[in-house]
This record gives sequence, structure tokens and C-alpha cells, in this order.
Amino acid sequence: KKIMVLNGPNLNLLGTREPAQYGYETLADVEVMCRSMAAQYGLEVDFRQSNHEGDLIDAIHQSGKEVAAGESLGVVFNPGAYTHTSIALHDAIKGADVPVIEVHISNVHAREAFRHHSYISPVASGILVGLGVQGYVLGIQALAHKRGLAKL
Ligand code: DQA
Repeated sequence: KKIMVLNGPNLNLLGTREPAQYGYETLADVEVMCRSMAAQYGLEVDFRQSNHEGDLIDAIHQSGKEVAAGESLGVVFNPGAYTHTSIALHDAIKGADVPVIEVHISNVHAREAFRHHSYISPVASGILVGLGVQGYVLGIQALAHKRGLAKL
């Protein structure tokens, strides 16, 4: 079984992008952390990043099919700025009927007002905000526990 970890726009710049906000870990570091946590539940990670809304929608649809086929537990998703703009991603999650844990590295509620609203939250199974890159790891644990998987 697997979990998809999906990253939206600008997260390829993690580590150098506003480190005061997002920390010094790179996306490659996050991938290593995710794989190591997933392995403790015997899970594989399909780790992705795209700067393009349509690619993220396609990935959500794919995960929905994999969940329906019993191959995947769902998606740990940091939609980046599309969080605050994308009705299309909201609809994709709803339409694909896929469990999504929404992750934000920074505490979006302590930042600009335009980051306070999320189109993703109403269709998310759970939300992890402001816990740094640890949020991804906790998201994997959340999906694993949801499915009653014991640690190996
Ligand atoms: C973010 C928060 C968003 O507001 C921002 O646009 C991002 C990253 C986070 O992880 O804290 O790109 O999703």
C-alpha cells in the first residue's frame, strides 16, 4: 500500500524560500522524512510536487482511483497558495472521494488575512497547520492510524 504526498506551487524552493517562515529543510529532506515514517507502517510514498494546478488535480484523481482499488490510503497535501484560490482543487478532492490531510508548514492564521481562508479545509479529513515540515510526517501517521495500521 502507499500514500501520496503532494506539494503545490513554490514548494520546490523549500529550504531557500523565506526560511524564517518555512525553515531550512529542503523538499528532498521532507521526502526522506516521509519515506522513513511511512516505512514504519509498511507503506510506500508517492512523493510529488508541481507548480501547475492541473497537474495537482490529475494527481488527486489518480489517488482517488488508487484508494478505490485498495492500493492507497490517500493524500498528504500541501496545496501552497492554491489553498486560498482553488475551487478546482476543492472540487477534485470532493469528486475523487479521496481522504486528504491538508498540511501547511507555517501557521497561516498568524499571517496575512488572505491566507486565513482555505478552499481545501472543508473537503479535508484533517488539517495540520504551523508545525513545520513535521506536519507531513504527522499527516502520514494520521492516514495510517485512520486505517488502523499498527507500526511494524
Ligand atoms: C503554505 C502556506 C501558503 O499560504 C503559502 O502560499 C505556501 C505554503 C505552507 O506550507 O505554510 O506556499 O501552504
